[in-house]
Amino acid sequence: MSEISAKHIREITGGKTETAIVLGSGLNFYGEQIDSAKVIPYQEIPDFPVSTAPGHKGQLISANISGKPVLLMQGRFHLYEGYDVTVITDVIRSLKLAGIKRLLLTNASGGINENFRPAELMLITDHINLTGRNPLIGANDESIGLRFPDMSKAYSPKLRETMLQAAENCRVKLHQGVYIGVTGPSFETPAEIRMMRTMGADAVGMSTVLEAIAAVHGGMEVCGLSFISNLAAGILDQPITCEEVMEEAEKVKPVVAKLLEEFISLL
Ligand code: HPA
Repeated sequence: MSEISAKHIREITGGKTETAIVLGSGLNFYGEQIDSAKVIPYQEIPDFPVSTAPGHKGQLISANISGKPVLLMQGRFHLYEGYDVTVITDVIRSLKLAGIKRLLLTNASGGINENFRPAELMLITDHINLTGRNPLIGANDESIGLRFPDMSKAYSPKLRETMLQAAENCRVKLHQGVYIGVTGPSFETPAEIRMMRTMGADAVGMSTVLEAIAAVHGGMEVCGLSFISNLAAGILDQPITCEEVMEEAEKVKPVVAKLLEEFISLL
């Protein structure tokens, strides 16, 4: 599957695009405001899955940002949609085979760290995979990567530096912390959030960790950016809703756009 999709993706990027950005919940808007060279709905890519998550459009955009070619994935695939973990692995491998070397994974997350406020941003320094899955289970294809890939620098120190520099240049407040990935779709209980805080997590979300593992396995450089859409369960005496996630995203739109452009210009 990966090869067939990759061939199609190469046709729109010309194989020269080395950076891809996966736009998470609430950050899909970023695709809208780009002067897009080419847009392809996932349905038109052979063997590519279709995204069903709210706010996830389901298209690839081949664009020029800050003078550099970038591939935007507007809509990702989550376990809670019912997808098998292999779908997530295949999508990442398609990008890799299409020539992508650098992957910026963005997402919306619940802030566990009590210093975080909604509509703030966090650079992912590391992750905890609490999904109970691993995208590399099964026969290993040695031509892609090692059987037991090292994850000690999963989130590229170089790209982290670049993102911190970009935030400083455009005066954007950027926290740093550990992202913990769960399957969802139910939000966490307050007891689970207390457990996650004890484990060392700063933000929780339903994506990113499996993509990061597949990308590291394939030798890609990974960077992760979380937008804190809400405080995690039990911190405030109020329910967490999907509407809240989308509303908070509205507020960060200009900040995220500025930060991403600066980041790309520094690559
Ligand atoms: N928990 C899990 N995933 C999320 C949250 C949350 O609080 N907010 C946005 N995605």
